[in-house]
Amino acid sequence: MSDKYNEMQYRRCGKSGLKLSAVSLGLWHNFGYTDVYEIFRKTLLTAFDKGITHFDLANNYGPPPGSAEENFGKILKKDLQHRRDEIIISTKAGYTMWEGPYGDWGSKKYLTASLDQSLKRMGLDYVDIFYHHRPDPETPLEETLTALDLIVRQGKALYIGISNYKPEEAKKAIDMLRNLGTPCLIHQPKYSMFERWVENGLLDLLGSEGVGCIPFSPLAQGLLTNKYLHGIPEDSRAAKPHGFLKKEQITQEKINQINQLNIVAQKRNQSLAQMALSWILKDERITSVLVGASSSEQLLDSLQCLNNLYFQDDELKEIDQILQ
Ligand SMILES: NC(=O)c1ccc[n+]([C@@H]2O[C@H](COP(=O)([O-])OP(=O)(O)OC[C@H]3O[C@@H](n4cnc5c(N)ncnc54)[C@H](OP(=O)(O)O)[C@@H]3O)[C@@H](O)[C@H]2O)c1
Repeated sequence: MSDKYNEMQYRRCGKSGLKLSAVSLGLWHNFGYTDVYEIFRKTLLTAFDKGITHFDLANNYGPPPGSAEENFGKILKKDLQHRRDEIIISTKAGYTMWEGPYGDWGSKKYLTASLDQSLKRMGLDYVDIFYHHRPDPETPLEETLTALDLIVRQGKALYIGISNYKPEEAKKAIDMLRNLGTPCLIHQPKYSMFERWVENGLLDLLGSEGVGCIPFSPLAQGLLTNKYLHGIPEDSRAAKPHGFLKKEQITQEKINQINQLNIVAQKRNQSLAQMALSWILKDERITSVLVGASSSEQLLDSLQCLNNLYFQDDELKEIDQILQ
């Protein structure tokens, strides 16, 4: 028997019964038809071997949209067939998925159809977590949340999450879902050293409401790693035409900050990626950090963040000064 479950750390998701691995793997980039099957298969199986139990998808991940779910379904069937009960799979709907008025945002029509399509692509009867991917300014929140509640009652998802909701919207959604009898399990916001909006109210809200928090892009899409210390490498997300990290975002100021942060990381005996992840996990309200990886080597590097989650006050001050 492997002792991976003793080596990985698991954190309770808010006040729910569910625990997640402190590091989760996301399939937004690197798992589409434009990527190399054997490389991402190895990344995914390495994650599972190291005790990562949670894999995060969305209807539109690829490219093309839907291909990450199809690839994930293939690997699940071929390599992890009898391990479904050891795995937490999430998917989402909320961004553009198909043309016409029913392939985007937050209507009941879109959310229910999209989840049915996701289940088919992955070859699943149910997902563990289904998220509304972003708030919809036009659809009444009641309609979106009633659709999520229905999906749980139908047995197509076990838990519900929200993503990209600001604190006021999140508070309304958490209250409404609780009244419907399907509590909000988790919130998925963007959070990294470079993007700290969750510190202005969201984390306090989630902590007091007993809702879990799983930050996405904790490495700022690769900026908070050793990848961009000396410019933009060819094999990077910023160099790919379909990558969401744009070359314009990698300013000289950012490169200077990354280099200074790297020195702090070295003093802690960590890689920059490891320090960026430890820095998020130091807060107990965080359930898991949701990383991406274009290789199993990257993932193995990132996972070592768990060896040092403690920061001295002067280290935190130094980091804040660099980020000012
Ligand atoms: N809810 C939402 O709206 C939303 C939005 C975005 C993402 N997400 C979720 O969050 C997940 C993670 O997002 P993300 O991919 O942007 O996360 P990230 O962890 O910030 O960035 C991942 C990228 O960083 C680089 N990297 C990772 N580990 C490294 C290491 N140890 N050393 C050097 N480079 C390393 C790789 O870049 P290269 O590819 O260049 O090698 C990798 O593709 C997604 O897959 C998705 O599940 C959710």
